[in-house]
Amino acid sequence: MLSALHKISVCLTLAAAGFGFADAAQAQEVNIYSYREVQLIEPMLKAFTEKTGVRTNIVFARDGLNERMAAEGRNSPADIILSADVSRLVEAKSLSLTQPFVSAAMAARLPAMAQDPEGHWIALTMRARVILASRERVAETEISYEQLADPKWKGRICMRSGQHAYNTALIAAMVAHKGEAETERWLIAVRDNLAQRPAGGDREQVRDVFTGKCDIAIANTYYMALMATDVKQPQQKAWANSVRVIFPEFSSGGSHINVSGVALAKNAPHKIEALALIAYLTSDNAQALYAEINHEYPVVAGVPASKHVQSWGPWKADTLPLDNLSMLRKKASELVDKVNFDAGPNS
Ligand SMILES: [Fe+2]
Repeated sequence: MLSALHKISVCLTLAAAGFGFADAAQAQEVNIYSYREVQLIEPMLKAFTEKTGVRTNIVFARDGLNERMAAEGRNSPADIILSADVSRLVEAKSLSLTQPFVSAAMAARLPAMAQDPEGHWIALTMRARVILASRERVAETEISYEQLADPKWKGRICMRSGQHAYNTALIAAMVAHKGEAETERWLIAVRDNLAQRPAGGDREQVRDVFTGKCDIAIANTYYMALMATDVKQPQQKAWANSVRVIFPEFSSGGSHINVSGVALAKNAPHKIEALALIAYLTSDNAQALYAEINHEYPVVAGVPASKHVQSWGPWKADTLPLDNLSMLRKKASELVDKVNFDAGPNS
């Protein structure tokens, strides 16, 4: 046990210092339960394996991985959980599926809002939920989240399902800033400003601005860069070129951010290798890959965003603690149902 703990601290210390992962080289594999799409994490995992010799095995699912781990209990093969949204990590912790792992050195590399106060999860990347506005039909350069309720936007907003995690997080932030009653009024007004029933993902909202169905799309920042640079889907470049990025803020805060992140499974069978992987994912090297390949904002200070992302200029992140937001998400989801948001305008 002592030697295992020693190994862990050696791995983390070496990682923090920017050295290799010699200890992990003896190990075999890390089993990943991932809510994140595989292609978004593959380059970082490949680099980790090249560096350490440790293989990674991924089980990907959009839903149900926490439930699966709970059902597997002590025999779960999962070592880590990767998520594109902080709420899954908070949920995993609340279901006692995780264990604390964050060393003082790792904690010091990350902003306070990017980690669980008890060290059960950390953020790996950040993204803002922004307005992508038609270059042709929107003159405004500043729009707050509250102003999306202004009747001047009637029939002009496109947004994916209100129940999608990206939107329930945004609506939960509105509840935190404005309270439930005001958020409900805001949500009804935004619903009535929609151009159509919510459908598709964030990219499709921008496509609909491009084709003239709406003037404003709500989307995560990295989609803007991915559409502009995705060689497999070159038609999306025109979608991205048709819009500008506006960083909305809450009147009492900054731009809403969410994070992708990682938690260590409570019964991780390959704990040492898992910790080495987590340490690698927070290294300057992996953070730079996240920035360049996925166009997400690095969580580690000093690692720059990609040139494309930097071109949108500076912005101010909201400072609401992410675990609080996660708690308000159920309320947000109830409000989405209550106002019939996904039925579209005037429903
Ligand atoms: Fe996404």
